[in-house]
Amino acid sequence: MSNAPKIVMGIETSCDETAVSIVREDGEILSNLVLSQIKEHKAFGGVVPEIAARAHMDHIDTLIKGALNDANMTFKDLDAVAATCGPGLIGGVMVGMMAGKAIAASQNLPFIAVNHLEGHVLTARLTHKAQFPFLVLLVSGGHTQILIAHDIGKYQRLGTTLDDALGECFDKSAKLMGLGYPGGPNLEKIAAKCKDSASACLKYPLPTPLKGRKGCDFSFSGLKTAMRNHVEALPEGDLDPNDIADLAYAFQITVGDVLKNRCQNAISEFLSIYPDLPKPSAFVVCGGVAANSHIRQILKDLTHTAKMDFMAPPMTLCSDNGAMIAWVGLEKLKLNEIDTLDVAARPRWPLDPNAEKLRRQ
Ligand code: KG4
Ligand code: ZN
Repeated sequence: MSNAPKIVMGIETSCDETAVSIVREDGEILSNLVLSQIKEHKAFGGVVPEIAARAHMDHIDTLIKGALNDANMTFKDLDAVAATCGPGLIGGVMVGMMAGKAIAASQNLPFIAVNHLEGHVLTARLTHKAQFPFLVLLVSGGHTQILIAHDIGKYQRLGTTLDDALGECFDKSAKLMGLGYPGGPNLEKIAAKCKDSASACLKYPLPTPLKGRKGCDFSFSGLKTAMRNHVEALPEGDLDPNDIADLAYAFQITVGDVLKNRCQNAISEFLSIYPDLPKPSAFVVCGGVAANSHIRQILKDLTHTAKMDFMAPPMTLCSDNGAMIAWVGLEKLKLNEIDTLDVAARPRWPLDPNAEKLRRQ
């Protein structure tokens, strides 16, 4: 058998990004194509599952060819193909999974079914060589969880959201403020325009759900309602950009405050489970919301105080991409964890099957 570093193609279609990437075992990303469907969904203010699935269908083959071209490769150079098989919008998941299975069947390659969330979690091993065990805050459009990554495939959920995901809260609040889709990045840009940060939070007081309580769970629906009340109380007519900037700023500060409190509890829990590690462990933040600079800074400061290593993937690898899927494929290929071609797509697929079942899981 060849000792050459293994090469895996990763396919991601679980939400509104069609993505294909080719990654080598040493962490070299040989190609990484991401086609966002923002234009398709913009008019609806959110992702429409049926439109997403059709758009994945329209583009997946072009992206697969493109990823091979960019890497200057053919299917013969691959050692395996990995595809997201859940959790996510099932129509879209099926498109990427079937494309991956078709390549595996026709090229006689191993197929690896990847959990999209594991993709986000293990990105820190691709980008920063994070060593197990590490603590992870996963904040995306569909998920808000704090997990301990004990090992590949061994995750312990310390906390999750009891209602809305943080990205969803960003997106819905942005929509209320008249900001375009996707709301998260737009809200961050507007918040940066706040001229009087000292008075913004006094002008727009917001609740900090679960802050100060035991545990690591989150709740964001009350925050969203408070945002609606503030927007509705603004003067009628066109919204004043200064009011919107102040409100966006207050929102971001509040979210940072809540995350800091919940992550502080998680760090204590992690250190009580692993009191005697020889080297500082990593605190990883991942998922689309991890692109937010204010949130990164808050978590970085907290992590340094706790003497852990702060790790956040570069912005392009925070949101959905194929490289994170290819990387999980590589990790599993090394462990010989290969799937058969009858593996099913899963709309729900918790990383910690033992965690208490909550509505959002
Ligand atoms: O991980 P991701 O790309 O897709 C999911 O798996 O959900 O995350 C998308 C989410 C969206 O809610 C988007 O608004 C949010 O990440 N997001 C941000 C920022 N960039 C993306 N939220 C806050 N600040 C940002 N800069
Ligand atoms: Zn994601």
